[in-house]
Amino acid sequence: MKKILAVMVAAVLTFAFMATAWAEMKKGLSLPKGWRSFTHVKSMVIPDKNHGLYGFHHIYANGKGVMTLKKGGIYPEGAVFVGAFYDVVTEKDGSITQGKKLFSVLMRKDAGAAETGGWRYAAFGPDGKFLDKDYKKECYECHTAVKDADYIFSKFIE
Ligand code: HEC
Repeated sequence: MKKILAVMVAAVLTFAFMATAWAEMKKGLSLPKGWRSFTHVKSMVIPDKNHGLYGFHHIYANGKGVMTLKKGGIYPEGAVFVGAFYDVVTEKDGSITQGKKLFSVLMRKDAGAAETGGWRYAAFGPDGKFLDKDYKKECYECHTAVKDADYIFSKFIE
């Protein structure tokens, strides 16, 4: 009887834990305050509008992110990367510049996110509103291509 009770208590606790984790995931993350003043890592332009990652990209990282990006290895808890995507505008003289904001992406190192390689993924509209997506399928799966770099594509360019 005691054993059954213990199993039931464990089941309830596990369920409560999972429900909390699920609620946190559903609620979503927000862009960290001051991300625009994080260290700029690199930029990239994908001019093809039919490409899933179309736009003018600027990648930023917080202190913990930059430190590990430079020295290599596994990122510590709290490391953050932000990618800001803008329209690609070609001026009359042929020069290419960034246009209006399209969306932003976020990766935050979080031990609770074991299902997605220890990083939480999030995307936001131009107004900063969290977008409800299947983050495992739509983000993590592509980032597994750089699993050896702890899922980070960007390289720091001095
Ligand atoms: C098709 C593959 C692919 C998909 C899908 C993808 N990414 Fe990326 N991601 C990349 C590449 C490539 C870069 C580097 C881009 C650059 O340098 O501008 C990148 C960069 C990033 C960065 C900056 C850190 C780094 O790895 O360099 C973040 C944050 C990020 N992506 C989050 C996301 C989120 C959130 C999603 C889902 C909404 C997502 N990504 C979907 C390929 C992908």
